[in-house]
Amino acid sequence: MSALFAPAELRGLRLPNRVVLSPMCQYAATDGVMNDWHLVHYGKFALGGAGLVLTEMTDVAPEGRITPACAGLYGDAAQAAAARIVGFCKAWGTARVGVQLAHAGRKGSTHPPARGGRPLAAGEGAWTTIAPSAVPYDDGWPAPAEATASDIARIRDDFVAAARRAEAAGFDLIELHGGHGYLLHQFLSPLTNRRSDAWGGTPARRMRFVIEVYEAVRAVWPADRPIGIRLSATDWVEGGWTPEETVALARTLKDLGIDYVDVSSGGLHPAQKIPLAPGYQAPFAAKVRAGAGVTTMTVGLIADPRHAERLVADGQTDFIKLGRGHLYDPHWAWHAAEALGVEIAYPPKLGAAQPKLRPMLFPARG
Ligand SMILES: Cc1cc2nc3c(=O)[nH]c(=O)nc-3n(C[C@H](O)[C@H](O)[C@H](O)COP(=O)(O)O)c2cc1C
Repeated sequence: MSALFAPAELRGLRLPNRVVLSPMCQYAATDGVMNDWHLVHYGKFALGGAGLVLTEMTDVAPEGRITPACAGLYGDAAQAAAARIVGFCKAWGTARVGVQLAHAGRKGSTHPPARGGRPLAAGEGAWTTIAPSAVPYDDGWPAPAEATASDIARIRDDFVAAARRAEAAGFDLIELHGGHGYLLHQFLSPLTNRRSDAWGGTPARRMRFVIEVYEAVRAVWPADRPIGIRLSATDWVEGGWTPEETVALARTLKDLGIDYVDVSSGGLHPAQKIPLAPGYQAPFAAKVRAGAGVTTMTVGLIADPRHAERLVADGQTDFIKLGRGHLYDPHWAWHAAEALGVEIAYPPKLGAAQPKLRPMLFPARG
């Protein structure tokens, strides 16, 4: 019996196991439209054994992208391209497929990390970013425009429009990106939200925009399909967003029907100091799970199957997300199942690879 490979249900969605492909930007789209790279990239993970494949941060408006090469879900072409990828994954793979909907806020209008990640210059197609307050991300970064009440309503509606497109494209699940210093997180943290109106000041008012976006998306997303949210549990900076506030927000969202909270950390402020170690964010997931009574995912430097199994079996989290571990081994779940002595379903076209058909090659099977 394995906890990691026990099936799970999120609302009406049945997942074959608790292994999740963590969202990872590919910086390979054109005008938000995904292409053959994304088809092969997500396709291979859908065939690889994970129970849930999540797209990269997929932005709800052009100005919500980090870079000009980021994926989006704000036009017919982007929707059609996403539908092709989801269609392949669901027709041939074993995973369910979710989309991570996001808005980069003040962290937008940059070069991809591989090209330095610096803000775009005027002649490089820069756009004016938007944020709760006109506080730049770092020295040398342009100040974002402070969002007006009508900007806030428009961005909420952009999330709703993207959710409708996600349904039309066939996605099984939506994850809202509320972490890593992007727009929703910028509303949560007092370091980036200096507003004194209905969306700033007290913790409850800083949480308001996230709750509004969640409720608006929930209202249009099919009742049997789940919605989760990724949150950063801490900014890792003095005076920033805290684990206690994360628990409070998770509790509120849980009361409003959210299906999971994925507990990550950091990304808001360049002064962050992160104590990296295998599973370093799992204690935050355990805190949110115990404090808010909500289903959680954890992520961060998890690669050893026994470690992943222990985190779920010990009740620290319900799901394990792997990012780089999956890039290194797209069949991580196959190999983890073998290491844990579990038989899992393979995609029909790859069934011949199953270890049980070639036991003499797998030492533990004798
Ligand atoms: C290339 C790359 C791109 C990423 N892009 C995203 C993203 O689009 N959305 C997100 O929430 N996290 C993103 N992340 C963070 C990962 O989802 C994950 O949380 C992080 O890499 C830690 O997990 P790992 O140690 O298993 O890789 C990215 C990470 C990498 C390495």
